[in-house]
Amino acid sequence: MIEVNHLNKTFRLKGGDVAALRDVSLQIREGSVYGVIGYSGAGKSTLVRCLNLLEVPDSGTMTIGGFDEITLREGKPYLQGKLMTARQQNQLRRGIGMIFQHFNLLDRSTVFDNIAYPLKYTGRSRAQIENRVKELLALVGLTDKIDVYPSQLSGGQKQRVAIARALAADPKILLSDEATSALDPDATESILSLLKDLNRKLGTPLLSSPMRWR
Ligand SMILES: Nc1ncnc2c1ncn2[C@@H]1O[C@H](COP(=O)(O)OP(=O)(O)O)[C@@H](O)[C@H]1O
Ligand SMILES: [Mg+2]
Repeated sequence: MIEVNHLNKTFRLKGGDVAALRDVSLQIREGSVYGVIGYSGAGKSTLVRCLNLLEVPDSGTMTIGGFDEITLREGKPYLQGKLMTARQQNQLRRGIGMIFQHFNLLDRSTVFDNIAYPLKYTGRSRAQIENRVKELLALVGLTDKIDVYPSQLSGGQKQRVAIARALAADPKILLSDEATSALDPDATESILSLLKDLNRKLGTPLLSSPMRWR
């Protein structure tokens, strides 16, 4: 279970403070899908960025990515009373798969290399990585695109590659920030059904900022 309690994040700007997250608490059960909705500027992206510590919340606690409870104090993350090391923070991020609106693929790398990237420093052999990438490509229905570059793919196909990459290192949770906002209605439909299908097959919980969900 992923648990967040009393999370706060305020951006201090010259023109004044912006309270992006105010006392946010949530629980995400194994295998479930959790939707985050709200107007533009409501804090959806900030929540996602805080969950993987790309942005550090000011205060609150969270249990995510296979770690014990993390306590945030004065904008710093603590684990069992000790400041989290950069290494621990990286480890936490490896336990969290991320999907973004603009896919964030490496344009100069092939589909294979994009998906293999998060597996680089996980101690897997070349053969293991190759097998894993092929397995993931089959899962997202892109087996024939293994040697292609992102520029040769449609938006929906790029997002499939990004989803395969997010799942590569067996994350404990998948976070999606507007994963379908840059896609046409057909591609949106197919990405939604893929995510639903993957959620059923793998049981990886999914936290997602707005997308139509049926
Ligand atoms: N890095 C940042 N620096 C300053 N203010 C920010 C930053 N990121 C987000 N904000 C502000 O925090 C609020 C929430 O933003 P955001 O999380 O992007 O909302 P959403 O994703 O729901 O549209 C907005 O008022 C935004 O301007
Ligand atoms: Mg946003």
